[in-house]
Amino acid sequence: MCIRDRIIAMTLNEIAKKMCAKGKGILAADESTGTIAKRFKSINVENVEKNRLNFRQTLFSSSAMKDYIGGVILFDETIRQKTTLGPSIPELISKHGAVPGIKVDKGAKPLAGSNDETVTEGLDGLRERLKEYYDLGARFTKWRAVYKISDKYPSAQSIKSNAHALARYSALVQEAKMVPIVEPEVLMDGSHNIDKCYQVTTDVLNECYNELEIHKIDLKGTVLKPNMVIPGSECKDKSSAEEIAKKTLDCLKKNVPVEVPGIAFLSGGQSEIESSKNLNEINKINDSNFLITFSYGRGLQASALKEFGKNQENLDNIQKAFNHRAKMNGLSSKGEWLEEFEKESAA
Ligand code: 13P
Repeated sequence: MCIRDRIIAMTLNEIAKKMCAKGKGILAADESTGTIAKRFKSINVENVEKNRLNFRQTLFSSSAMKDYIGGVILFDETIRQKTTLGPSIPELISKHGAVPGIKVDKGAKPLAGSNDETVTEGLDGLRERLKEYYDLGARFTKWRAVYKISDKYPSAQSIKSNAHALARYSALVQEAKMVPIVEPEVLMDGSHNIDKCYQVTTDVLNECYNELEIHKIDLKGTVLKPNMVIPGSECKDKSSAEEIAKKTLDCLKKNVPVEVPGIAFLSGGQSEIESSKNLNEINKINDSNFLITFSYGRGLQASALKEFGKNQENLDNIQKAFNHRAKMNGLSSKGEWLEEFEKESAA
């Protein structure tokens, strides 16, 4: 049986566990055309399809893929692309033993009735799109809800409407025989402290799992992609990695049902090293049954992107940077990362 057929024969629970297998995590390469435009602008690269394909196929053919990456989240354009190396993008990913996935939401749009908050859209026509994505090779999906923290936010309206959409999305995805990644992201922006983040993350997770239960989601066939419990980026009281780990794990153990097999964090604007260090601390004290790992975009790609900006043709340097980050995060998913490994790479 080829790798792709083997994935077809797997249950949703087996796919979820494969995506988050010990020592591995998820590469979030699903930046929309608008988001990748910002990333490319920062390195002075023109945002055209050829460059997007070149960058992404360079990552997906790196040696780190088979050891450290359990799944890759793609954007609509990417899942349809054929690489210049021969195979299609989903085939290239499956060849390394990773599961191809697809972002299916249509983005966070202004929430009518609550200024400055958003609700994620994309449910209309989703059943039909899912069928197409399955045929293109996707076996899991992602939907991201966004919550802002301030004196007034997030509102109950935002918490409830986003949880409802996440649950309706999850039901359609499981009907289409794929694993939904449920991503409720409490943003790091703001001056709030870590306890405020803990409280808001608790409220958001509670409402999400209430709705998922109402919509009869089989939690064993899902992956949660949450934020870490962390102080706002403008907060004066910095927290140690130990405190972040303790509070994050506590929040997850109290609010995520035990049936959920895997939890894969977003990096959310933390630096590459911070996101590895914090994940590592969480896994050092992880006494739950959750597989706890990464589903990083910036946390995995920032250095590789910089190399791509320096010289788009130097595949070796781009892949070296990516291989290193993937390895560091793979170690963090087992609680085996050490700061000195980062210095070795710099040397
Ligand atoms: P970051 O890790 O850059 O936050 O991206 C993860 C992601 O997929 C956001 O939806």
